Amino acid sequence: MALLSVVSGCSNRFCCVLAKGNGKEGYGHDPEVPMKQKHVRVLTKLAPSLVAALVVLSPISNTPVSVGQTIDIERGASLFQKACIGCHDGGGNIIQPGATLFTKDLERNGVDTEEEIYRVTYFGKGRMPGFGENCTPRGQCTFGPRLQEDEIKLLAEFVRLQADQGWPSIPSTED
Ligand code: HEC
Repeated sequence: MALLSVVSGCSNRFCCVLAKGNGKEGYGHDPEVPMKQKHVRVLTKLAPSLVAALVVLSPISNTPVSVGQTIDIERGASLFQKACIGCHDGGGNIIQPGATLFTKDLERNGVDTEEEIYRVTYFGKGRMPGFGENCTPRGQCTFGPRLQEDEIKLLAEFVRLQADQGWPSIPSTED
């Protein structure tokens, strides 16, 4: 019971990794917990092939939005890793602690819609450089590679989704 309450009190990534590690020995006597974990894992694995099946089988491409997001999230995560993680690792903000990518800051700063996140990412804001191809003025824009519009759109969706879920870590595709 003590273990269980420690786990449910977990909100950060590090702690969750620890909890997973304990799962094998700690929960051995409780068949319910490993079952649930397994179930979740199977679902995550199945999702991409289910999506592929849906797309192939359906004559009119009518993939539900929620399913579409399961595919995009990996691409979003990899874009985020390339362009944003330097300042926003784990959804934080190493330059400006009051402007993280967590919902409470996004709301307070009026950047809580995908449109606003898109705008900030495209044109920059304060010490945040813009990444859009037509970002101006130059001084406000990144000196690194620019991002395509659809990439920024995807990043905005990704940030919004991650904020909604409290920035869980995304398993990398290279596993
Ligand atoms: C060089 C560091 C840096 C990089 C790289 C960077 N940001 Fe930022 N970001 C900032 C800073 C600083 C702010 C705060 C700007 C302000 O409010 O004046 C910010 C703010 C934001 C905000 C608004 C957050 C809030 O609570 O107000 C969003 C959304 C955002 N960044 C998204 C991104 C995305 C997406 C990327 C990758 C494409 C990215 N950032 C890359 C530094 C960075």
